Amino acid sequence: MIHSRIASTGSYLPERIMTNAELEKLVDTSDEWIVARTGIRERHIAADNETSLDLGEKAALAAMERGGYSAEDIDLIVVATCTPEKVFPSTACLLQERLGIHGSPAFDVQAACAGFIYAFGTAYSFIRSGMATRALVVGTETMSRVIDWQDRGTCVIFADGAGAVILEASDEPGVLSTHLHAEGSYKDLLQVPGWVRADYNEGIDPAPHMLMKGSEVFKVAVRELGGSVEEALTANNKQRSDVDWLIPHQANIRIIDAVAKRLQLPDERVIKTIERHGNTSAASVPLALDEACRDGRIQRGQLILLEAFGGGFAWGSALAIY
Ligand code: UT7
Repeated sequence: MIHSRIASTGSYLPERIMTNAELEKLVDTSDEWIVARTGIRERHIAADNETSLDLGEKAALAAMERGGYSAEDIDLIVVATCTPEKVFPSTACLLQERLGIHGSPAFDVQAACAGFIYAFGTAYSFIRSGMATRALVVGTETMSRVIDWQDRGTCVIFADGAGAVILEASDEPGVLSTHLHAEGSYKDLLQVPGWVRADYNEGIDPAPHMLMKGSEVFKVAVRELGGSVEEALTANNKQRSDVDWLIPHQANIRIIDAVAKRLQLPDERVIKTIERHGNTSAASVPLALDEACRDGRIQRGQLILLEAFGGGFAWGSALAIY
């Protein structure tokens, strides 16, 4: 059996930091409400000329540099994004060109905030089946481009950033499993309903920004993520106490805490970046993973549990020995 291991990680956050105080000037909200209901104090917002491709490139280069890899070492690129550079070519193909990689498969995965887990699961399956030996998996988002800055239910939450993981074939077990799920009947609870139409002058019709029924999303997220982490443990015959680190999607501090409680994991074993990053959609899990790997909290040999939930609804988990 071909195993796969997380060989390296990298991430990038745009320079501009937007505080809750700035949002107080845009919509009827308060720092107190945002902190209490979401756990977010500040977030990074891309510059006008910065795109998901730019962010993803910087995260990918950081992961390649940290692992000592060059373009020739990568034979698969999977990019998770719901804010792509263009309708096509895929952001993955554009990234391939930027990185000087030639001939490898390169494609985007669109599973909204669960995108990175889907991309990670896809790369894991490619490696397991012998179709790739070293995959670059990137989650990159410019959610600021699809936010309605008059909608206080979403503009206080979502943000920009990118994270990358290099997953490579290994003789020793690394990734133990990924579990992916979706339920399209929830399509209306979290969406960007706009679509591209070349015969429309504006090009996009009707609403190119995000619409979210927040409290309904919240309830399903807590329920399904709880089930998803239990599923990962059961499938691998692991106990809750075996998990060294939970690296959750940074959607809302209350969702993170609810899943950690179900796992009976103490706070100090949960990686939380939401206070400084906000919800960066498909970038949130690799951003949190990279931060905790680089600062030495996550050590080689430890058991890590990744999970995410987002529009679709789509959700999933990955269990791995780092
Ligand atoms: O990442 C992908 C998946 N997304 C998520 O997982 C997000 C899940 N949802 C959430 O995180 C939360 O539902 C929110 C943070 C979006 C909202 O928190 P909530 O505790 O569910 O609030 P709510 O929507 O039930 O609204 C409670 C009150 C309402 O006022 P009334 O009707 O009680 O007077 C809202 O209008 O809070 C109000 N409200 C706000 N007040 C101040 C909503 N947004 C704001 C705001 N500032 N930004």
